Amino acid sequence: MLLAAAAVSCNGDAPSVLDPQGESAQRIDGLWWLMLWISLAVLAVVAGLMAVAFLRGRREGLEVDASSSRWGEPFVVVAGVIVPVVILTGVFVVSVRDLNAITREGDDAELTIEVVGHMWWWEARYPGGAVTANEIHIPTGQTVRFEVTTVDVIHSFWVPQLAPKIDMVPGRTNVVDVRTGTPGTYRGQCAEYCGLQHANMALFVVAEPPGEFERWLENETAPAASPADQAGLDAFLRSSCVGCHTVRGTDASGTLGPDLTHVASRETLGAGTIENTRENLADWIANPQTVKPGAVMPPTEISAEELDLIVEYLQGLT
Ligand code: CUA
Repeated sequence: MLLAAAAVSCNGDAPSVLDPQGESAQRIDGLWWLMLWISLAVLAVVAGLMAVAFLRGRREGLEVDASSSRWGEPFVVVAGVIVPVVILTGVFVVSVRDLNAITREGDDAELTIEVVGHMWWWEARYPGGAVTANEIHIPTGQTVRFEVTTVDVIHSFWVPQLAPKIDMVPGRTNVVDVRTGTPGTYRGQCAEYCGLQHANMALFVVAEPPGEFERWLENETAPAASPADQAGLDAFLRSSCVGCHTVRGTDASGTLGPDLTHVASRETLGAGTIENTRENLADWIANPQTVKPGAVMPPTEISAEELDLIVEYLQGLT
């Protein structure tokens, strides 16, 4: 049944720790399988002994005289004490070895990304000034260090296919290293209950070859593109959006919500809640509470014309 459950979780889009694509995730996967096989072996032996005892009891009725067996005491000592001590010690040694390997903090990280947890989204800050949200690009074949913290409650940064969970704790910076050789988009999820929209606190780590990654980072580092139509930017700047959001290269410099400098380059809105389409963006701006009840962003009191201009402007921020 365990195996069946494990197999099911490998299907579909849901990320599974049993489909490891990063070096530390591979270690966790190896440990998981080792523990599973040992547990199954122990289960098989115990079930076998119980079956033997049951059949013998049925054959011999209640007449079995336990004290007549020469093997009773040595068996209890070996199977009840020595074997469990050997197995548990072995598993402990392997666990500690893997734990050390995946939490090692060397100086070998080639890129450090700061990730800040918010209720309920992820802010990612790159060296060089790029700031993005919920979609974190990394280069393949390089060790990438995530320095994680939070500005509100405890969250947990977890991308099952790449790395172990790491808690984001107020006032503290925790570190997790990620290294993968396989390009792809890996879904992550907040793994510590953090309030109403905990389940809608997803993220994506996009691993791509270094050349592609460099092009992406160069674009994200640059200030926002000048809009084709100034009216859109003007509408944005006179809206309440600027109180909470930054668009680098403009007067918008709020820090409460995600940096929108390249918002159109992202696939989703609301930390993986909805696709980043024109219609969804308009709905989100008009009233995020219908999409993600409890989110910090309030409904925007705005005319349809203004909304249209702002959506047009934001869609140009690639
Ligand atoms: Cu953030 Cu759960």
